[in-house]
Amino acid sequence: MAKPIFILNGPNLNMLGMRQPEIYGHQTLADVEESCNSYADSLGLEVDFRQSNMEGELVTWIQEARAEADGLIINAAAYTHTSVAIQDALMLLSVPVIEVHLSNIHKREAFRHHSFVAAAAQGMICGFGSRGYLMALDALAAQRLTN
Ligand code: DQA
Repeated sequence: MAKPIFILNGPNLNMLGMRQPEIYGHQTLADVEESCNSYADSLGLEVDFRQSNMEGELVTWIQEARAEADGLIINAAAYTHTSVAIQDALMLLSVPVIEVHLSNIHKREAFRHHSFVAAAAQGMICGFGSRGYLMALDALAAQRLTN
């Protein structure tokens, strides 16, 4: 039986809409969740969309994905650039992992250019705003068809 795609969001993404809208856009995280749900529905996928400001909680959810998810989309936000713990947890997954960022992290400050998530991800989508989440869902749906 098909399992949901986990979409995990890291710190400060709960502030979307009011957080530097010139970088992150005007949509709230609830708006992003709603568009992920309806797009996933059109692809025949189910999503489990979550956000946490706590590194350990994200690690626990990634571990949960081992048994409970068919794929994982993660915007680890600032933890992308700092968290060995998140990389270690992602390395344990055998389902596909896609890294998403709203902004193009390579166009920004040097400390955002390194991602600990990248080594554990199949690929990264960044710079397309919230559309990146839908692009990641597309990638997972396409793989489901070809696998
Ligand atoms: C982000 C980019 C990170 O560098 C930043 O810390 C975030 C959001 C993005 O989606 O563009 O919180 O992951």
